[in-house]
Amino acid sequence: MIVAGIDDISIYSPGFFYPLEDLARRHGVDPAKYIVGIGQERMAVPTPDEDIVSMAANAVAPLLVNEVREEISTVIFATESGIDQSKSAGLFVHGVLGLNPNCRVVEFKQACYSATAGIQLASDLVRQRPKEKVLVIASDIARYERNSEGECTQGAGAVAMIVAANPRLLEIHPQSGVFSFDVMDFWRPNHREAAYVNGKLSIDVYLRSLTEAWLDFQRKDGLPLTSIDKLCFHQPFTKMSKKAFGALREAAGAEADHLDEKSYAESQIYGRQIGNTYSASLYIGLSSLLDNCDEDLTGRSVGLFSYGSGSVGEFFSVSVVEGYRRRLRSHAHRALLARRREIDYETYVAWFYTSVKSTEDRISPMQTTGRYRFAAIAEQRRIYAEVDCARLGSLNAVA
Ligand code: CAA
Repeated sequence: MIVAGIDDISIYSPGFFYPLEDLARRHGVDPAKYIVGIGQERMAVPTPDEDIVSMAANAVAPLLVNEVREEISTVIFATESGIDQSKSAGLFVHGVLGLNPNCRVVEFKQACYSATAGIQLASDLVRQRPKEKVLVIASDIARYERNSEGECTQGAGAVAMIVAANPRLLEIHPQSGVFSFDVMDFWRPNHREAAYVNGKLSIDVYLRSLTEAWLDFQRKDGLPLTSIDKLCFHQPFTKMSKKAFGALREAAGAEADHLDEKSYAESQIYGRQIGNTYSASLYIGLSSLLDNCDEDLTGRSVGLFSYGSGSVGEFFSVSVVEGYRRRLRSHAHRALLARRREIDYETYVAWFYTSVKSTEDRISPMQTTGRYRFAAIAEQRRIYAEVDCARLGSLNAVA
């Protein structure tokens, strides 16, 4: 069988953050609740000229080297925070980046899970047509009501992955375990900008879904836990990985004896600084694991759990390809996070809670530190543009 997997991965998150210590003070709670109890330090805050499309374009752009641009036959855009009921967000990315016209483009939705559906379908597609490459993008702004329990888990970011035959980063194993059922733990009707959520129920459902998906993975001849060296869980906030590990250990029993909190610690590093990114969160966690793990992971297997409220869970595994370190973009990812600027509460509120539904004509002032931006709305059309590089250079130098 043709081996399919992830050949390249790139992440993007806005150039500004708001510290959760300050949010805790505003909410009148002990900062340790957010920093230790929830496990989050900073929340990435998009500027008014950023949205899921501009973040996605910024994640994709570094991947378009050599012949890759021409080889992309399919673009799958996964998101919870869609900007149009009809047109795929992927087409805006296709346009602003000038991708190959002989290409299919589609948007996937299922809360935080949809990028995994994209990865699985992309893998099957390249197993059938090994000359083609699939661009899988996940991009989201995780938005809850102001002063709600979920506010401390907000965040924004995107990840872009090239799925190809004979990948140079990660081979995706064909076995996977899935579990779906209809439940109202987190949802967002079309008229709403922020999600409705039953937080405690969502945690229970996530953990049940993990257990059931794991059992299904075992029934379908997935790797035993004894053959898995690292773990990466969907991470709405980093404490959730700890809860997930506990549930998996309970389900797997003695098979989990060789694993401990270090097995997923590196996958939490970026998420703790960025916050929830819904569909992107698992794969930003995967990127964090690969970029930050000092051990050589060549030939080792990683177990991944993807969860999307509503709900769908999937457990699958990948193995790390020899030479993977040469393909990583660790330096760029770390630099992206290191040069972010802190904003105050008033700016955070003004930017995070700017109405995303307004369709009135406007030209957005230049505020992003990214290369691509959501520049304007004209006659109900969203307009994206590449930023003048000289101007961007001076903005990032100030940062
Ligand atoms: N020092 C240290 N820890 C403290 C503390 C302090 N002073 N005060 C409280 N804590 C701890 C608590 O003990 C608790 O830890 P455990 O969970 O380990 O028991 C933790 O901080 C959180 O405290 P609460 O449970 O009281 O927090 P809360 O009820 O205010 O809100 C939440 C937590 C329900 C997760 C809320 O943030 C929320 O609704 N978030 C959004 C929903 C979500 O992310 N759900 C996750 C599963 S669904 C999913 O994964 C899909 C998705 O992306 C949305």
